Amino acid sequence: MASVDHNVMIEAGGAMPPATVKVWDPFVRVFHWSLAALFLLAYVTGDEVQNVHIAAGYAIAGLLALRIVWGFVGPRHARFGDFVRSPRAVFAYVRDVALLRAPRFIGHNPAGGAMVVALIVMLIGTGITGYMMTTDAYWGAEWVEEVHEVLANLTVGLVVVHVLGVLVASFEHRENLVKAMITGRKRANER
Ligand code: HEM
Ligand code: HEM
Repeated sequence: MASVDHNVMIEAGGAMPPATVKVWDPFVRVFHWSLAALFLLAYVTGDEVQNVHIAAGYAIAGLLALRIVWGFVGPRHARFGDFVRSPRAVFAYVRDVALLRAPRFIGHNPAGGAMVVALIVMLIGTGITGYMMTTDAYWGAEWVEEVHEVLANLTVGLVVVHVLGVLVASFEHRENLVKAMITGRKRANER
């Protein structure tokens, strides 16, 4: 009997705060904000401060290596299996977003998952071409520098789309996804 009264109180929006669930584990959160800061640092020092630039680039490479391992052994929403979908599912989801009828996901939605993969791949390409420039074999090779710069700039473009996607999804589902990437928690799915 007592538990029935309790439920009524939640539904009436009384004293109980809305239920939340843990989504992003501490590693994913530290990974994310370190990656964003280091990416910015690497980008602005690329042309100017070589030692800082290369250190930031290697730190990014290290973070990515750990994140990839975590994508296989980490908790549920950190796993690639939880958010990497077929291109068909990704396009269907983007269409639903445009029609304002996209379902809410507790982890990454299919478009967000595709963005995570794209960012990781581009950052790896940027890191490898950056490393190549420091080797004897490719030192001074104009084309490697060219590719490194193009990959870095394309990644900036992806980051802009990434942040816009976060804002669109936040408005569409009336939740603050940026805050969730800080606290790790999101509103539980309503039944
Ligand atoms: C101030 C700028 C940024 C904001 C506000 C932001 C916000 C977010 C948010 C809210 C998520 C979770 C998305 C979801 O709920 O599905 C996320 C995920 C992610 N973001 Fe960002 N982001 C920013 C910059 C960046 C940058 C610069 C990079 C990389 C260069 C980046 C790479 C990623 C990656 C890889 C994930 C997936 C996290 C994981 O599962 O490990 N973000 N971001
Ligand atoms: C993923 C992170 C990285 C980003 C976003 C990035 C971005 C950039 C950018 C924007 C430039 C300037 C290009 C220009 O205007 O000429 C640059 C140059 C350079 N980067 Fe990176 N880079 C990254 C990683 C690395 C790594 C890991 C290394 C080496 C191990 C590296 C080595 C270099 C070198 C040697 C240059 C100078 C090219 C020149 O002579 O102008 N980068 N990078």
